[in-house]
Amino acid sequence: MTTAAESEAWAVYGAPPPVLAPVPPRARQVSPLIPDASSLEDLAEASLDRMTVLAPPGALERRYVLAQALRALKPGGALVALAPKDRGGSRLRGELQSLGCAVAEEARRHHRICTARAPGDAAAIASALTGGGVRWREVGLGEAGFWTQPGVFSWDRPDPGTTLLAAHLPALAGRGADFGCGAGLLARAVLAQPGVAELELVDIDARAIALARRNVDDERARFRQADLRRASGGARLDFVVMNPPFHLAGVEDRGLGEAFIAAAAAALRPGGVCLLVANVSLPYERALETCFARLGQVVRRDGFKVLEAVK
Ligand SMILES: C[S@@+](CC[C@H](N)C(=O)[O-])C[C@H]1O[C@@H](n2cnc3c(N)ncnc32)[C@H](O)[C@@H]1O
Repeated sequence: MTTAAESEAWAVYGAPPPVLAPVPPRARQVSPLIPDASSLEDLAEASLDRMTVLAPPGALERRYVLAQALRALKPGGALVALAPKDRGGSRLRGELQSLGCAVAEEARRHHRICTARAPGDAAAIASALTGGGVRWREVGLGEAGFWTQPGVFSWDRPDPGTTLLAAHLPALAGRGADFGCGAGLLARAVLAQPGVAELELVDIDARAIALARRNVDDERARFRQADLRRASGGARLDFVVMNPPFHLAGVEDRGLGEAFIAAAAAALRPGGVCLLVANVSLPYERALETCFARLGQVVRRDGFKVLEAVK
């Protein structure tokens, strides 16, 4: 039987702890970090009765998500936004007020939970949407600029680890993948090599995949939003490149890098090569030695190391 709450038009962003902000199971998921979610931007204007947002940690990204929520709510519709106090929660009330809302705030379990009602202030909402939206940056790797968006990994400048790996790529050939491709800067460096026949760009973040599609204009490229912790293998690729994550949605998780390494080992053919860049403090060697036949260090510089593992 459908409850009254479930029959309301309700959207949810992320996975708020149910004990703090319960959401009906049929609420529409709109976080870009959850494969198969709907797009936040595609929510029709003034279409929702309620929206619950586990607000992301980056300030521009958080204001953008709150503004999208207010845009999508019907006048009088309720927005419940929450975040851990030290990851943006303590700023939520002020941010919602600056978007033109009266706000009720509660503190529970190290979170701040704010309730506001649409519509908010149209000009402030429009400015937050612009501030957190897709934009062009002039400086990427080398000469070329790139499309980016606050919230996507290293959105405002090329990552130094990525830059180091791109500068030390060996000759690559055949079919490969870029695991955790972000906006596609590393993939562009890989595709500069004529021997590469096909490159699959994989990321859990739908925004990253959308940006990579714009940044990587190459018919050898394929794009896939997927969670590499659930990768199924295939053992057919000649190479995998990666700058593995150790954070997701602002939460540190070192197991992520190890899951990426296991996914690469499963995807590569015997003799296939995995090229990985990481902060020198991250001990990925053990996981690489477990999954691969040979391991070597290509370069170590400025706090980063590039490792090459052969299956
Ligand atoms: C360190 S960034 C590297 C991005 C890009 N390759 C670069 O070098 O600029 C890691 C990427 O992995 C993605 N990611 C995190 N967890 C993931 C998962 N479970 N499955 C797939 N991608 C994931 C993140 O969204 C992020 O774009």
